Amino acid sequence: MKTENTDDLLFEAVRLARLAGQIQLRHFRSRSMGIEVKQQNDFNVVTSADKESESLIISAIRQAYPDHAILAEESGATDGEAGYRWVIDPLDGTTNFSAGLPIFSVSIAVELDGDPIVGVVFAPYLDELFTAVKGEGAWLNGNPISPSVTTSLSSAVVSTGFPYDKAQNPDNNLDNVARVMPLVRGLRRLGSAAVDLCYVAAGFLDGYWELNLNRWDIAAGSLIAREAGACVTSFRDDRGYSLIAATPAVHPLLAQLIE
Ligand code: IPD
Ligand code: CA
Ligand code: CA
Repeated sequence: MKTENTDDLLFEAVRLARLAGQIQLRHFRSRSMGIEVKQQNDFNVVTSADKESESLIISAIRQAYPDHAILAEESGATDGEAGYRWVIDPLDGTTNFSAGLPIFSVSIAVELDGDPIVGVVFAPYLDELFTAVKGEGAWLNGNPISPSVTTSLSSAVVSTGFPYDKAQNPDNNLDNVARVMPLVRGLRRLGSAAVDLCYVAAGFLDGYWELNLNRWDIAAGSLIAREAGACVTSFRDDRGYSLIAATPAVHPLLAQLIE
């Protein structure tokens, strides 16, 4: 198996995230967003920017790394032979994007034998580029980041999200919200899981939890949060990826409340 240079993988992931971000900014708040409903669920939408971003990213990876596997939200999985896999959410936060709200991102991770080694999350409207390399730390626009030093829930600002099947399935996180909301300084719903994880990494949020996420939502952001020094754990294994990410002192306090 050919061993790739991690700096080259990071460079390519950043280059592609920035190109996808340019596509998104061209469509954002325009009349050409091409919004379509996915899986006959009015809450789950896809836009032309999701599709154009993904096809740009995938065709560049296929050209540069033809033996790497790819998992991408809109087009699914392609096998590879090299042990490397690119995990791509071309536009995380499509509900925000389609409404004209500025929190959305491109999320690209590279895994080696199932373990994320490079993570890139780029929020183009905010011009925030989060990067991490396994064992080397995490950065925001090239500057090292670390989680907050908050130690209590009463001084914590935390975020969460809700699954797309929230109307049909009562296991929709409202029970956790009812327990957490009265105890924290602020509870937010930002709308991009990748950004939530990066904001924990950078100390802009003290904690974040969500259930029923997909690999592409969290592969890059959870590496960035861990490399920055945040605690990231799974709180259940029966609903996709269900994560609590928080600054070390707040993590056990949140974990007691969330199920
Ligand atoms: C969604 C966002 C959102 C989260 C959803 C995700 P998408 O991703 O990350 O914040 O609450 O669970 O599916 O659909 O915009 O790529
Ligand atoms: Ca997503
Ligand atoms: Ca997406």
